[in-house]
Amino acid sequence: MRQPCAAGRAHGRHDDGPNQLFVGSVNGARGIGDGPARAIDTRRCSSHSLRMTRRTPPVTDWSRDFDVLDAGYIHDPFPIWDELRQTCPVARTERRNGAWLLTTYADVTAAAHDIERFSSLEVGVIDTGEIVDEENNQTPYGLPPISADPPLHTWTRRLLLPWFSHSRVATYEAMTRDLSNRLIDGFVATGSADAAADYAQQIPVRVIAKILGVSEDMSDVFTEWVRDLLEFADDPERLARGQQGLGEYLIAEIASRRDAPGDDLISELIGLTHEGEPLEDGLILGMVALVLIAGIDTTWSAIGSSLWHLATHPQDAERLVREPALMGTAVEEFLRAYSPVTMARVVTDDTEFEGCPMRKGDKVLMNFPAANRDPLAFDRADEVVLDRALNRHVAFGSGIHRCAGSNLARMELQVAVEEWLRRVPSFRISADSDVAWAGGQVRGPRRLPVSFP
Ligand code: HEM
Repeated sequence: MRQPCAAGRAHGRHDDGPNQLFVGSVNGARGIGDGPARAIDTRRCSSHSLRMTRRTPPVTDWSRDFDVLDAGYIHDPFPIWDELRQTCPVARTERRNGAWLLTTYADVTAAAHDIERFSSLEVGVIDTGEIVDEENNQTPYGLPPISADPPLHTWTRRLLLPWFSHSRVATYEAMTRDLSNRLIDGFVATGSADAAADYAQQIPVRVIAKILGVSEDMSDVFTEWVRDLLEFADDPERLARGQQGLGEYLIAEIASRRDAPGDDLISELIGLTHEGEPLEDGLILGMVALVLIAGIDTTWSAIGSSLWHLATHPQDAERLVREPALMGTAVEEFLRAYSPVTMARVVTDDTEFEGCPMRKGDKVLMNFPAANRDPLAFDRADEVVLDRALNRHVAFGSGIHRCAGSNLARMELQVAVEEWLRRVPSFRISADSDVAWAGGQVRGPRRLPVSFP
């Protein structure tokens, strides 16, 4: 058995802090399934101070004191993961109310499949310290299926899956291609663009708006709310803004679909039943919010990171232009090498995992991006190999929670990169210093200035 290199003191779940309307977001998620929710330790931690600020002291010991919001980590996490895999594959921190960080492919996939010991009732990477006010909780089921364990997970996932089948996703392809081209039309003549803000960011949100049957005009507002929830979860004001904005907006949308149903996901969920009963509004709200939250930042980050790679590796851009048949394997390789999404689990009972003493209520970060760079799982793990034949990456997770929207994400990513390369085959970063990355739960470029002939 591995020696615990980072056996720091394991805290219980932190369960106090400012209350929010939208309890049950991906950050601070708390789903209450049908049947008794699994009892989780609710001991309180002593320190609140770190939560109030995004700035924390610099990290000097990544194995015992990591910080996923550290600026250097967000910018370039790869050497840190390499070192941790070799020296301390299960790292520990007491920051932000404490967490474990898994960095190997074997450990991440083992924990993802071990749903008895690692629950999805809390999947937020950043501890928000929310109080769960059961009486005013608009999403008493959390955001199922992502923040649920079976049995709630099983049937809510089944209800969503048809919306993201290959055949349904194919119906969004022409729209995505047209949208990509309209965006490129807006800047192609100028010789420069922000490939993140002017392009990548604009695509997934519009496809999701279409699926939900809401106006495309809401795109910028949705983007801000989702960033509030995922990227600024440790900023109480932004978190509250995102929760309230998204919650109130979707509650009104659900009410309006009850009066006038349309051909969209919200209307369909209203019309569905489970065991003969219609779905409650709180459940519909959680599921619709999840689709919006899960479908925007993630895919936009994947498109942005892929374009960052092509801008900084012109030989790969040239090869893809020359050999477009490689696009399928290239997209999988971008997903592997620049996986955007880290999720969390909560430990259900005191246990030992790879020699580390985990306590009931501990947060465990499922570092899918680090797993995908594990040299024991992939040859030349740190290289982007456009024609990599065997690529069992876990960018979309592993086990029962594997991404329900992966067909849609793949289509959007492929179309966005294809259309970009067709119209802008050769491009470079304008100034390295101007590139800005976001990280934490979802990593990707938020500012990516590029220029082209
Ligand atoms: C490149 C883009 C995307 C990436 C990298 C990604 C990644 C992930 C990951 C890692 C999980 C597993 C969560 C866990 O284990 O806790 C997940 C779950 C999920 N994703 Fe995605 N996702 C992407 C795009 C999308 C899109 C476009 C949608 C739909 C609009 C979507 C909907 C979902 C849903 C509903 C789940 C929950 C599945 C379950 O719990 O059974 N995702 N995603």
